[in-house]
Amino acid sequence: MNSFTYVESSEPHPEIPLIGGDVTEGVVRVGDTVRRPVGPNAPFVHALLCHLEEVGFPGAPRFLGIDTAGREVLTFVPGEVAGRPRPAWIADEDRLASVGRLVRDYDDAVAGFVMPQGVRTGFPISEPPGVPPAPPYPAEVAGHMDYTSDNIVFRDGKAAALIDFDLAKPVARVDEVMNAMMYWAPLDDPVDADPPLREVDVPRRCRILADAYEMSDVDRSRLVEVAVLRSRRSWFLMKQRAEEQGGGWARMWDEGVGDQIKRREAWLEQNGATIDAALNAP
Ligand SMILES: Nc1ncnc2c1ncn2[C@@H]1O[C@H](COP(=O)(O)OP(=O)(O)O)[C@@H](O)[C@H]1O
Ligand SMILES: [Mg+2]
Repeated sequence: MNSFTYVESSEPHPEIPLIGGDVTEGVVRVGDTVRRPVGPNAPFVHALLCHLEEVGFPGAPRFLGIDTAGREVLTFVPGEVAGRPRPAWIADEDRLASVGRLVRDYDDAVAGFVMPQGVRTGFPISEPPGVPPAPPYPAEVAGHMDYTSDNIVFRDGKAAALIDFDLAKPVARVDEVMNAMMYWAPLDDPVDADPPLREVDVPRRCRILADAYEMSDVDRSRLVEVAVLRSRRSWFLMKQRAEEQGGGWARMWDEGVGDQIKRREAWLEQNGATIDAALNAP
């Protein structure tokens, strides 16, 4: 099921580079398909995409197989992706709410996903030295966990589909909402935020996302704690990826993503209580 061969259509199409992602080199569009190099998490992702197809979830590309060049073949998802420079609309609150609803619909669609026998996620087995523990909350869903502005396709001004499942793994729902907040509220020192998000009301945007997701009270009370713990961990995990996987990860590390994470930690220390209050107010 996880490695079927893609049969090309008889009509040849040019390969059009798709730029915008941070990590994967060689993502191209070919006709109505997208070709991506197969990453370490591919067996898990392919099983997940097959599950999403089985349950009829409309907000994800379909996995079509592996082409003769060894790349994964996905359906091309039409619509609008933020790209760089970031468009002003990433600050729009209606769009923000639509992101929260899409994340909820996705999490509900994968809540019943059972990993096929022999398939596991492709993340390093050994934890880097000194890494603090993950939040102690049990996994509930096969989370997407990479809700950057470039991984959500909009149609008619609403978040319509998710792409780029390379970081998908079993997590708690609160991790998913936190990840969406990190990019869309955003949870970052304003010096690191995308320009349209530098002066927004972050606690208010966290609340909009939480309400759109219909986040539970208990998860709201855990959000800031999870953000702090995941942030501390991510410094170590990003460093490990840069060292072990190189490529786009190494480039991001060289460009200072480690320092950005440290600034996020300090910013969360200062602003966590305000975010907590906004999330948990009646
Ligand atoms: N299935 C798809 N449908 C439409 N566009 C896609 C699809 N997959 C990727 N893209 C486009 O290509 C860009 C980079 O692909 P992505 O899979 O996100 O790679 P990266 O790992 O580098 O972030 C995306 O931001 C998006 O614009
Ligand atoms: Mg991407």
